[in-house]
Amino acid sequence: MQTIHSLAEMSRWSDGIIARGNSIALVPTMGYFHEGHLNLMRLASRLADFVVVSLFVNPLQFGPLEDLSCYPRDLARDSGMAAGENVDVLFAPTDSEMYSSDFNTRLRVEGITDTLCGKQRPGHFEGVITVVAKLFNIIKPHTAVFGRKDFQQLCVIRKMVRDLNWDIKIVGHPIVREKTAWL
Ligand code: PAF
Repeated sequence: MQTIHSLAEMSRWSDGIIARGNSIALVPTMGYFHEGHLNLMRLASRLADFVVVSLFVNPLQFGPLEDLSCYPRDLARDSGMAAGENVDVLFAPTDSEMYSSDFNTRLRVEGITDTLCGKQRPGHFEGVITVVAKLFNIIKPHTAVFGRKDFQQLCVIRKMVRDLNWDIKIVGHPIVREKTAWL
C-alpha cells in the first residue's frame, strides 16, 4: 500500500490505472479506523481492481460549535490498519492541499437535507458533498462505498451523483455492530 498526500500525484495515479483499463473503488473516510471502516475496505476490494481509501478530516462539515480540533487523528495507526486490508492507496491530503485560502465553493442538495441531521447541523451536508465531489474529481473512482450507518449522508450523496450525472456506482454497506459485553 502506498500513501499519497498530493492531489496531483493522486490524480496521476488514477489516470494510469484507468488508462490500463482497470477500475477503482473509493472508500472516503475521516480516519481513526474501526471494524466498520475495515468492512467498507473489504467490500470495496470485491468491487474493483484497485482500492483507494481517502483519509481527510474535512473542516467544511464541522459546525462552529463542533470541535474540529478534538477529532481523533492517528495516521500511523490508520496506515497500519489499512495496510492489513487490500488497500492500494491511502490518500491523505493536507487541509491546505484540499482547500486553498480563497476556497469559496459549496455544493448543496435541497430537500432531503432539510430534515433529521441536516436540520440539526446547518451546513453539514454542504461540507460533506463538497469534499466528496472533490474526492470524486481527484480520484475518478468507478465505485464508492459508504456505510449505511450515516443513512441520510448516503441518500444525499446518491442524489448528488444522480443530479450531476456522475458515472459512479454508490454502494451502501450494511451497518456493522461490534459485540457488546452485556449481550
Ligand atoms: O462519513 C464520513 O466519514 C464523512 O462524512 C465523509 C463521507 C468521509 C466526508 O468527509
